[in-house]
Amino acid sequence: MTISDSASHNSTSWVARDAASVWHPFTQHATWVDDEPTVVERAEGPWLIDVDGRRYLDGVSSLWTTTLGHCHPEVNAAITAQLAKLDHTTFLGTTHTPGIELAETLIASAPRGDGPELTKVFYAGDGSSAVEAALKIAYQYSHQTGRARPKFVRLQHAYHGDTLGAVAVGGHDLFHATYRPLLLETVGVPSPGDRALGEDRNATAVAALRSVMRAHGDEVCAVIVEPMIQGAAGMFDYDASFLRAARELADAHGALLIFDEVATGFGRTGTMWAAEHAGVAPDLLTCGKGITGGYLPLSAVLAAEHVYDAFLARPGDTGPRTFFHGHTYTGNPLCCAAALANLRVMAEQDVVGQAARLGERLRKLLEPLADHEQVAEIRGLGTMIGVEVRPRSARTGFDVCQAARRRGVWLRPLGDTVIVMPPLTLAEAETDLLVTALAEAIDEVRTAEVRA
Ligand SMILES: Cc1ncc(COP(=O)(O)O)c(C=O)c1O
Repeated sequence: MTISDSASHNSTSWVARDAASVWHPFTQHATWVDDEPTVVERAEGPWLIDVDGRRYLDGVSSLWTTTLGHCHPEVNAAITAQLAKLDHTTFLGTTHTPGIELAETLIASAPRGDGPELTKVFYAGDGSSAVEAALKIAYQYSHQTGRARPKFVRLQHAYHGDTLGAVAVGGHDLFHATYRPLLLETVGVPSPGDRALGEDRNATAVAALRSVMRAHGDEVCAVIVEPMIQGAAGMFDYDASFLRAARELADAHGALLIFDEVATGFGRTGTMWAAEHAGVAPDLLTCGKGITGGYLPLSAVLAAEHVYDAFLARPGDTGPRTFFHGHTYTGNPLCCAAALANLRVMAEQDVVGQAARLGERLRKLLEPLADHEQVAEIRGLGTMIGVEVRPRSARTGFDVCQAARRRGVWLRPLGDTVIVMPPLTLAEAETDLLVTALAEAIDEVRTAEVRA
């Protein structure tokens, strides 16, 4: 039975009500209703269940967040227990035990290697707001350690979020070009993951970064990158040596190095942090998404001690030096409790190891698809995988995802790249189902278009 054969249609009325009142992110509402959006009512493990009782495997971890699966009993219990004790208190002037414990846990897990130790945690709400905080910290750091440096170095095709600072350091034209007149000063460098640059892309990117730093180095407060893989670009993985070069060049020119691990953190690439693949530590690390395992919105900036130190001053010292930045819900206790439970279960069950094995299995199962005439490339790292399909229409990637949905697998494309990024604990049978549904979906779209 395919999904559209289902007899019940609660979805239809909910979609009509949704269309009457809701404006969704990254959504073209002119076609929203025609595309029959999924109205999710419940979730369990890797499954999303809609208001008509139809089940869909969550093939993109609910926008790259889900680690253990939905409604995990231990995370649910931790949130409920926290709710009975403390719902919220401001992190401006008070503190609380889950916030302290989570900071300790994050610091203990932080990547080690070439670069400073990360010793302090600044909380934010979403990935974008963590990036925003990191950019402001980097700029203020330059201001307080010598001379204000107003520029950031960013990679082409980068994605760091949708607030204006994050957009400024992005390089995804479809998402970012409109806003360029509003943005901070940045210098773009070719991406080491950009296939259009050919086999020498890594050397090209390193050479470009070197010459940009030579030309602008003393005005650059930070270099920001998504380490090892540019997710929203369409899973552009790249060589670890680029990160080692970025560390060296940032140091040589007195700039900070920011790793944006919002997508890659918490096991997604088969290691706790993508930075571990390169043995490099940044001065600032942003994380979000998987931190709470997909339960509640939380993000953080991990900072090196030398960065934190530059913000210290006692009354009477020159300048307040304080980081005047924060949000009403910064460090919310429920979010911190969810993150603590997620990270505890991840450690107890070696979920990072599970993710490494899942990534290998997915790649092996997907391998035969690489020869499919409608597949241009399969790329990625760990459980972050992109299957680039050859465009046959304006929405080929989307059509493939719709065909997968009819087979009970929920996927979301980035242009013509179908993203495969399931919960880290996905079982073997469900992994098989995901890959089979994707292969059949690609065939279905090809057959439909050949006939048309
Ligand atoms: C690398 C990276 N940074 C930042 C963000 C923005 O995170 P959020 O959507 O939580 O604001 C994303 C989101 O996909 C991301 O992939």
